[in-house]
Amino acid sequence: MNVKEIIKDIFYVGIDDKKTRFFEATWPIPNGISYNAYLIKDEKNALIEGGVKVDYSREFFRKLEKIIDLSELEYIVINHMEPDHTGTLPQLYRLAKNAKIVVSQKGKELLADFYKITDSDRVIVARDGDEIKLGKRTLRLISSPFLHWPETMMTYEETDKVLFSGDVFGSFGALNGRLFDVNWVLDDYLFELKRYYTNIVGMFTGPTQNALKKLRMLDINFIAPSHGPIIKDYKNKVFSLYDKLSRYESDKKVTIIYGTMYGYTEELVSVLALRLYEEDIPTSIINVTNVHPSYILADAWDSSVIVLAAPTYDGKYFLPAYNAMYVIYAKRLRNKKYAVMGSSGWSGKGYLRVIELAKELGWELIEPVVEYRGAVDEEEIKLVDELVDNIVSILKKG
Ligand SMILES: Cc1cc2nc3c(=O)[nH]c(=O)nc-3n(C[C@H](O)[C@H](O)[C@H](O)COP(=O)(O)O)c2cc1C
Ligand SMILES: [Fe+2]
Ligand SMILES: [Fe+2]
Repeated sequence: MNVKEIIKDIFYVGIDDKKTRFFEATWPIPNGISYNAYLIKDEKNALIEGGVKVDYSREFFRKLEKIIDLSELEYIVINHMEPDHTGTLPQLYRLAKNAKIVVSQKGKELLADFYKITDSDRVIVARDGDEIKLGKRTLRLISSPFLHWPETMMTYEETDKVLFSGDVFGSFGALNGRLFDVNWVLDDYLFELKRYYTNIVGMFTGPTQNALKKLRMLDINFIAPSHGPIIKDYKNKVFSLYDKLSRYESDKKVTIIYGTMYGYTEELVSVLALRLYEEDIPTSIINVTNVHPSYILADAWDSSVIVLAAPTYDGKYFLPAYNAMYVIYAKRLRNKKYAVMGSSGWSGKGYLRVIELAKELGWELIEPVVEYRGAVDEEEIKLVDELVDNIVSILKKG
């Protein structure tokens, strides 16, 4: 088993999960994910993160025990209590008899609720700015609530200037030995970083902005998150992506999220897409039946305009299209303009269901709503022309 010393006396003891198909039983991870943990050797040894997902305990303990005798572990610093990072904690707590757990106040409550760990001699509550001296090195704890749970904090190592950032700056994809950002193809990496942020942490844009403000004051050489590679060379890229996404800043592009059973909606989508192409507007066209909402959410996040196109179905909105919009709604995507179009057979008006969701998000409707019975004809094409004119004038303004 290979245990990598990433910086002198700082070891990577995380693992790759290539078996789980859906993270949080929700988000597809076709290329797996890593649960990262780090061991710092000093006069007092410290584990950063509570451990890994319980399914990988054998591998995790083999790694730890290759570096130290567990009786020599002094601190277990829990940045985040979620079980993907603490599943192995009860066992570690029993085996590492001299170790003390460092958590936030809220983390202490979760520790009792999840694992019944309440021994006050072995639980240290950390407050924002508290320091832990390991010997040569000092750790500083930085409170970062709601990134991604209410108890969350980050840990900053002062000598090598390593920020152990927890879920923040994490990405999907198993490492397969690619421990640092530069080992990844940049576009693939940034895509999985964005998908992770929008799917997992994106709800908490306010806390993200607060954390970024704090982190800008720190001198950081390495960001060591709890998922995905350690960030060394792409730090500025990652910071500016986080800043952009958490401010809901959009690119001048349109995302068309459409569903179709018999091709009628798709026909109108093609008319719209061609008109947008003629206006030189970059457009993503996503079929909800084939693409998981995880990817649709990530794509829509930084689009200026979202087009929702689907037929009426049982008096409601076409189900896979509603599902995609519901995920966008649940993740609270703000600051969007949107348009609605699609086909129907007799009663129509299924789109009213997604207009309700968009209204709650504060999105601004671009008229006209284009709904039509059966096949596309000249009348609808005229409406699409009108819609495109309105989209173009909005994009030119913004
Ligand atoms: C199971 C089913 C339920 C439908 N329910 C409605 C409905 O409640 N109201 C309506 O106007 N059309 C309804 N339709 C008709 C479709 O909206 C219509 O066929 C439309 O042209 C389909 O567009 P598409 O080719 O993009 O799938 C339904 C169609 C199906 C297959
Ligand atoms: Fe988490
Ligand atoms: Fe996590």
